[in-house]
Amino acid sequence: MPTGVEANVSRHYAIRSLETIIVEALRASGLDPESLKPDDLAPVDEFHMGGRAATAALAEALELRPATRVLDIGCGLGGAARYFAAQAGCRVTGIDLTSDYVEAATALTRRVGLADLADFQVASAVDLPFAPASFEAASLIHVGMNVPDKRRLCAEAARVLKRGGRLAVYDVMRVCAGDIPYPTAWAADADTSFMADPAHYREALAGAGLVVRMEQDQRDLAIDVFRRFRARVAERGLPVLGLHLLMGPDAPAKVTNMAAALERGLIAPILMVAVRR
Ligand SMILES: C[S@@+](CC[C@H](N)C(=O)[O-])C[C@H]1O[C@@H](n2cnc3c(N)ncnc32)[C@H](O)[C@@H]1O
Repeated sequence: MPTGVEANVSRHYAIRSLETIIVEALRASGLDPESLKPDDLAPVDEFHMGGRAATAALAEALELRPATRVLDIGCGLGGAARYFAAQAGCRVTGIDLTSDYVEAATALTRRVGLADLADFQVASAVDLPFAPASFEAASLIHVGMNVPDKRRLCAEAARVLKRGGRLAVYDVMRVCAGDIPYPTAWAADADTSFMADPAHYREALAGAGLVVRMEQDQRDLAIDVFRRFRARVAERGLPVLGLHLLMGPDAPAKVTNMAAALERGLIAPILMVAVRR
């Protein structure tokens, strides 16, 4: 049972009967939930800025192969894990603090026929239930904003990676001082938001024995995706199946606030790829 910050974070994301909510939305958008393909879930697969294009860039940087064992830390609904498994044919384990997400990730993955390649369990990113050197690759996508101790976060990821293994961090980072408007997708207010700047991440990665090989600012991609989304909503309204199902009734305020902070240059989604020494 999570306590303290983790309990608050898990409460922020919790949504009962998530599989049923998504299955109903799939049906309402004309799909047969008994006969789904992995791409049918794309509208809810990426609970992060930049959508599928950002996931694809991260997957490419991880250089996944069928033999790669991957850990997706803070997997949410399992979208990235399913993408890695479907694209590379590799085995992926996803962990997440929020049990509602883990249950839905497991059920949705079974529905699209990827259960042999991707599995999910409830766990904390700062206390991973795996032996040292269990994985060749790991991803951390929009999770660090909910974790106060980045050094411990990076040390845990490094511990479960083999030597030469890769960690891809794709988090929303602080790039300039200024007031962030809340709520955002990851926090109702500043009490559960722990954004850090890129220098802090680099230092935490280096301290964990992870050598940063690549860094990419995905701000322009994220702004473009937000703009297209708003244009689509203005023209045709909200799609039946989409991330608003995960963000709740204040989804419009969350999207507006994140887009404003991005456009004002206060935050940016940054991809860092590091190799375990
Ligand atoms: C914004 S969502 C991103 C989900 C997913 N990575 C994606 O990109 O679609 C953040 C996720 O991180 C999880 N999370 C936050 N803090 C965590 C922690 N300490 N340990 C494990 N998961 C955590 C949340 O439960 C949530 O599912």
